[in-house]
Amino acid sequence: MTGSLLITRIGELVTNAPADAGAAAGPGAFAVLSDAALVIEGDRVAWTGLSARAPAADAVVDAAGRAVLPGFVDSHAHLVFAGERSAEFAARMAGLPYEAGGIRSTVLATRAATDAQLRAGLRRLAGEMLRQGTTTFECKSGYGLTVADEARSVALAAEVTAEVTFLGAHVVPPEFAADVSGYVDLVRGPMLEACAPFSRWADVFCERGAFGADEARAVLTAGLARGLQPRIHANQLGTGPGILLGVELGAASADHCTFLTDADVAALASSDTVATLLPGAEFGTRQPYPDARRLLSAGAVVALATDCNPGSSYTSSMPFCIALAVRDMRMTTEEAVWSATAGGARALRRTDVGYLAPGARADLIMLNAPSHAYLAYRPGVPLVRTVWQSGNRVSAETRLPAAASDPGVVAPGGHGGHVVEGLAFELFPGRLRVAPRLPGDHPLEALVERLELAGIVGAVAAVPAGLDGHAAALARVRGRHGCLLRNGCPGGPPCPRGPASRR
Ligand code: NIG
Ligand code: FE
Repeated sequence: MTGSLLITRIGELVTNAPADAGAAAGPGAFAVLSDAALVIEGDRVAWTGLSARAPAADAVVDAAGRAVLPGFVDSHAHLVFAGERSAEFAARMAGLPYEAGGIRSTVLATRAATDAQLRAGLRRLAGEMLRQGTTTFECKSGYGLTVADEARSVALAAEVTAEVTFLGAHVVPPEFAADVSGYVDLVRGPMLEACAPFSRWADVFCERGAFGADEARAVLTAGLARGLQPRIHANQLGTGPGILLGVELGAASADHCTFLTDADVAALASSDTVATLLPGAEFGTRQPYPDARRLLSAGAVVALATDCNPGSSYTSSMPFCIALAVRDMRMTTEEAVWSATAGGARALRRTDVGYLAPGARADLIMLNAPSHAYLAYRPGVPLVRTVWQSGNRVSAETRLPAAASDPGVVAPGGHGGHVVEGLAFELFPGRLRVAPRLPGDHPLEALVERLELAGIVGAVAAVPAGLDGHAAALARVRGRHGCLLRNGCPGGPPCPRGPASRR
């Protein structure tokens, strides 16, 4: 973003601000300001306070009494996969239990998919998340389960998030069914070696039907030795050793926590390991919801996340998880929103997101509603009106003013500028200025990146030659997206990664 932006007349500003505002320690407790304003400068929040005292800025957005919250932090998602399992879901709804083994069918589909198919699915889900207000998300591997397929999974995930988790120990793949220890050795040896450069975290599905405590320990300690911080899938299908192991190893988070012993609760409450609850999984498997009240009463830090995956929880919606947490897990609206923002930040050990105070990353959402409570009060309604990520406005309703000095994006039949095909026309009828507030080296490159991430743009069909700087920008876009530029740039070099169709 260039220049400062003042968002004023905010009915309810959820700040989660740390007590010593601006401290680098990250979010504090749930907190709100009424009749508030917020100033963005560059990618950071520069000021928060009462509207009446707001400083001047280069541009102003009138919130007209709406609520503004920190962007959601989804600390648990499995987005690199192919195929779907709706039949398995339907069978569960008809009475069959959820079993870890279903993961293997997604593994087969994922192995058979091309990089481009996996990338397209990943970007579609990342776009869904962004439009629903998630500005930071974690993404796991775990549906490849060979060295090459896990390595490409984390490499693809690293294209869209800094929070990449190596989950080679998701289940034992069929070819190792008779040699589980051989598979664990593969995971903590060559697979870890290939995945570590792209990953921040290592995770294990520590559960009956997946991996036991010794195997999980072997993988997570190998990850630690390779610089990957631990997190763990624990106690999803029954009580087990996962939570205590996670706490012992200093895991940032123990995820699911659906079945809890007193020792599990006590361990979580007296440690820095966040209890990440994934109500989408209980919704999608008809299991009992985790006992959030028990964890909160004991003093554990609770995060909420989607667990977005094709098996147990195929939702990318943090608002949906907030609604479930409030309605079915008896979290207050304040607790649920805190857990979906600041709690997620804690689960990812991030001090720059999950709150809105000077110095925080300018990741925020405006609701078509006057308070955070509406996220649960109006379940299933798309209330997220506008999203700012690192200070950039990215929601689909963004309509930027035209400016004569910038090349534009125009609908087919227009003249000059670029031609962008697909949904962009529905969402951006007519002329869209390539905005200087979009990040990147070149406005065209940034625009394509941003629209594609938001799932808005399908393909750039043709770009006029001869506009200053476009050839180099196109080459960079093409290098990353292959045949996103479907017909190439007239007069430009042919796409090195192949012809017409989008990969
Ligand atoms: O977190 N529990 C393990 N992994 C996923 C489910 C994956 C699947 O069923 O494909 C989860 O729920
Ligand atoms: Fe999961």
